[in-house]
Amino acid sequence: MSEITLIGLGAMGSALGRALLENEIELTVWNRSVEKTEALVNLGAKSASSLEAAIDASPRVMICITQYEASRALLDQPSIVSTLTNKTIVQLSTGTPGEVRKMAQWVNDQGANYLDGSIMVYPVTIGKEAAQILVSGEKSIYRDCQPYINCLGGDVRYVGEKIGAAAALDLAVLSRLCAITPGVVNGAHICESEGVPLTLYADLFPEGDRARSLALSIHHGNFTDEVIASVNTAISCISAIKTHSEDLGINCEIPAFSINLYQRAVDAGFGDQDAAALIKVLRMAS
Ligand SMILES: NC(=O)c1ccc[n+]([C@@H]2O[C@H](COP(=O)([O-])OP(=O)(O)OC[C@H]3O[C@@H](n4cnc5c(N)ncnc54)[C@H](OP(=O)(O)O)[C@@H]3O)[C@@H](O)[C@H]2O)c1
Repeated sequence: MSEITLIGLGAMGSALGRALLENEIELTVWNRSVEKTEALVNLGAKSASSLEAAIDASPRVMICITQYEASRALLDQPSIVSTLTNKTIVQLSTGTPGEVRKMAQWVNDQGANYLDGSIMVYPVTIGKEAAQILVSGEKSIYRDCQPYINCLGGDVRYVGEKIGAAAALDLAVLSRLCAITPGVVNGAHICESEGVPLTLYADLFPEGDRARSLALSIHHGNFTDEVIASVNTAISCISAIKTHSEDLGINCEIPAFSINLYQRAVDAGFGDQDAAALIKVLRMAS
């Protein structure tokens, strides 16, 4: 037996796996494309021959794959469902609170426990002091998993028993993309229209502030070398915020306004570029 199994070894899952192994956790790994297991196996992880074997190998199963819904499809197969009884699923894929509640209910119905986590940093920060991870779910389950989750970063925050709380806070933080990013880009548009150097604008923001990097990308006219958050990433996050707001029946004017702006950047072919590329949409419209 291992202490924990990790499913999903993309950029984030691999970073999680490395952090667990650095802390000498006995780890079993599984990934849909088997070649991605090799790097972690070389660092000491055990590779499972099948998904069933991977779940069987540990009492706790951490999942980190692209789509939240896909993790249900992965587990909801007759040969897998029977392996879930008494396991604890630690879900670290990004989802909306609604998706989280649905998945938690289904997992509980299979006789398994469920914790949901939101990773608030890039893979490069995993394992470091600054790595912020929010976790929600039953406290006793969290306590059992805490030693493993704590390996992933120095800023792990338990945000309560409401299973959707971590995902709600994640969407709340991502809501900045709806208005702050377009607002900063709008500021750059004012400066360039007034002939004020964008370096002066960028210098108003402290080092590390996203507003500073947006202003500097626009100043250099370089939207591809350092993509901190692409237009495509922003639109997918904001779409999740809008859908969730609609499901809740709360006001969604701000995400709706923002999606329209980002969509025009996608339509103009800037989807893979940094969100600073929104400036090109503003310039087209002036
Ligand atoms: N990267 C970040 O900066 C970041 C930050 C915070 C949170 N996250 C979250 O972390 C999760 C993973 O992101 P990532 O950056 O690791 O993505 P990634 O590098 O694109 O890797 C995606 C992973 O998901 C697996 N996958 C996708 N669809 C699947 C399916 N239908 N069945 C089984 N496996 C499937 C892939 O398997 P294959 O290798 O077989 O394709 C791969 O292991 C996402 O929910 C993301 O929102 C990422």
